[in-house]
Amino acid sequence: MKKGFIFDLDGVITDTAKFHYIAWKDLAMDLGITIDETFNETLKGISRMDSLDKILAYGQRDDEFSIEEKEVLAQKKNDAYVQLLADLSEKDLLPGVHDFLVQAKAEAIPCAIASASKNAPMILEKLGVLDFFGHIVDPETLKKGKPDPEIFVKAAESIHVEPQDAIGFEDAQAGIDGIKAAGMYAVGISETEILTGSDLQVASMTELSVEQLITI
Ligand code: BG6
Ligand code: MG
Repeated sequence: MKKGFIFDLDGVITDTAKFHYIAWKDLAMDLGITIDETFNETLKGISRMDSLDKILAYGQRDDEFSIEEKEVLAQKKNDAYVQLLADLSEKDLLPGVHDFLVQAKAEAIPCAIASASKNAPMILEKLGVLDFFGHIVDPETLKKGKPDPEIFVKAAESIHVEPQDAIGFEDAQAGIDGIKAAGMYAVGISETEILTGSDLQVASMTELSVEQLITI
């Protein structure tokens, strides 16, 4: 029996992944670096500063900026990203998410968020689902980002569930790797990517039933 659910945010609860991509693409273009959707896949689940480092390395400009300059660039990206979220509301929940959270609540399964995003509380509030989550792991408290299991282990602890009794939901390979390294059951959610190592992969949460999943 599974006793707790741990969700990534971007690309699982809502499709903010597309806004991260737009904001990074614009910032990269200002720096003379062109990124495409294939490269963008490698940024999913990765922290803001690590994403910037990856983009600069991709454009062979990694030695050119001081930490302070990189902080200004990361802030610029975030300002653009937050502007793109201005109209985010319940209508932007991905298909099946609301029903799934309602089912989990009915079954008294605690839920937590394991997202690298510092914007997670604000986004969940705009989506109207903040109250479904017992805890949101603060990414500032992490020593290592995904694919390290730390964020998933902390999320399970926060809802008092052993890793082997938890199910993690992810749209990115780094996240699936982190969930598996934490010793949890991994559900991959993606229409387009093959998430290697996931225990189950679906195109959307509409395909999932809480009642069935908890018996795994
Ligand atoms: C992850 C996203 O959830 O959060 C990444 O998949 C993003 O693309 C990371 O860079 C950090 O998000 P934020 O909102 O703190 O910049
Ligand atoms: Mg994601």
